[in-house]
Amino acid sequence: SIDMSSLTKQTGLTSLDPGFVNTASTRSAITYIDGENGILRYRGYPIEELAKQSTYLEVAWLLIYGELPSESELLEFDEKIRRHTLLHEDLKRFFTALPHNAHPMSVLSSAVSALSTYYEDSLSPHDPEQVEISTIRLLAKLPVIAAYAHKKALGQAFLYPDNSLSFVDNFLRLNFGNMAEPYEVNPVLSKALDRLLILHEDHEQNASTSTVRLVGSTEANIFSSISAGINALYGPLHGGANEAVLKMLAQIRDSGEGVGKFVERVKKKEEGVRLMGFGHRVYKSYDPRAKLVKESADEVLDALGVSDELLDLARELEQIALADDYFIERKLYPNVDFYTGVIYKAMGFPPRMFTVLFAIGRLPGWIAHWREMNSDPATKIGRPQQLYVGPPERHLNR
Ligand code: ACO
Repeated sequence: SIDMSSLTKQTGLTSLDPGFVNTASTRSAITYIDGENGILRYRGYPIEELAKQSTYLEVAWLLIYGELPSESELLEFDEKIRRHTLLHEDLKRFFTALPHNAHPMSVLSSAVSALSTYYEDSLSPHDPEQVEISTIRLLAKLPVIAAYAHKKALGQAFLYPDNSLSFVDNFLRLNFGNMAEPYEVNPVLSKALDRLLILHEDHEQNASTSTVRLVGSTEANIFSSISAGINALYGPLHGGANEAVLKMLAQIRDSGEGVGKFVERVKKKEEGVRLMGFGHRVYKSYDPRAKLVKESADEVLDALGVSDELLDLARELEQIALADDYFIERKLYPNVDFYTGVIYKAMGFPPRMFTVLFAIGRLPGWIAHWREMNSDPATKIGRPQQLYVGPPERHLNR
């Protein structure tokens, strides 16, 4: 039974919308998605053009400031980010306090939360200069934290950033370089990683971005808000799907059951069995990002001269699913996560780092939304209604 008075409490009408399937939480000028037609645009620019002709940092600027940067603006932005890559030495010790098998997503969110303790005098969401410096610090330091989470899991020494390198090359070196020899960046990997990061930069009001906005709506600082977003992204129904896809493919290969049998189990909805990397709340056609990722998968594997049976399995799974009524009726297509894991694996990242790479990609979007929300006079603290279905008033009668 529902207490009907709770339905008309404040606004006159309350709608119940589990999962916010039909509820907009905000107006936003950042990203446009047409899920029926597979269209994605950042600030009006089609994702295909940005992925092929832009860079992660240029797109970050576009998302955060609203327009493409001039050449000098981009140069200055890049230089500022290079200048802020160092982590406080005490924060580096934080990594060694965690268990050696700590999941890097937990390490990432904890370290980002901890960052706020080093910058307590510049956390105001209302001071534009403080917001600006926090933006730069986050963009510069998140990749370094991510690489240290990786190195920690390997038991290897942390490298200092080499700020003569570009954003992506620096990140690759921090992950795969060592103290003993110089690290040679493979330009094909660098380009492919940059493109994957662009594809992840924003996706309007997804679960992690909505989390960043909800936490930020309490006037919490940007580090706390983004740490919360990283935790939301960790879940396997969201960013965690890229790790889950690779696990699923490896299980299919190791069990020897074959792709067809696996798909049958998915269709029977066996407990815990979903086709990971398929389906999307918004896309009811092919995810435009997945098309671009699929192209990159071929390019990267060819350039490295490797083949991967998991990529073959993924292709076979896609073919079977796209021809099957279960998936056709429900409009289930590969999403951005379906092929990313295969590329990250070819680059040398362990599966536990996959969602961390997603987080680095999504960071500019989170920042852009947090800033958009804080500069919008219509912003109110996020506070959904509920329909109470518990017991009516009762008494202890003692
Ligand atoms: N495999 C099998 N069946 C699926 C899948 C899937 N991956 N996704 C949805 N379905 C089915 C559901 O069982 C449901 O069927 P029913 O109507 O018979 O009950 C129908 O399709 C609708 O699914 P919902 O779960 O209601 O769709 P929702 O919009 O709530 O969920 C989600 C979207 C979470 C992405 C879902 O498709 C899913 O779990 N996919 C797998 C995980 C994944 O790849 N997540 C990454 C998303 S993209 C991103 O975050 C970057």
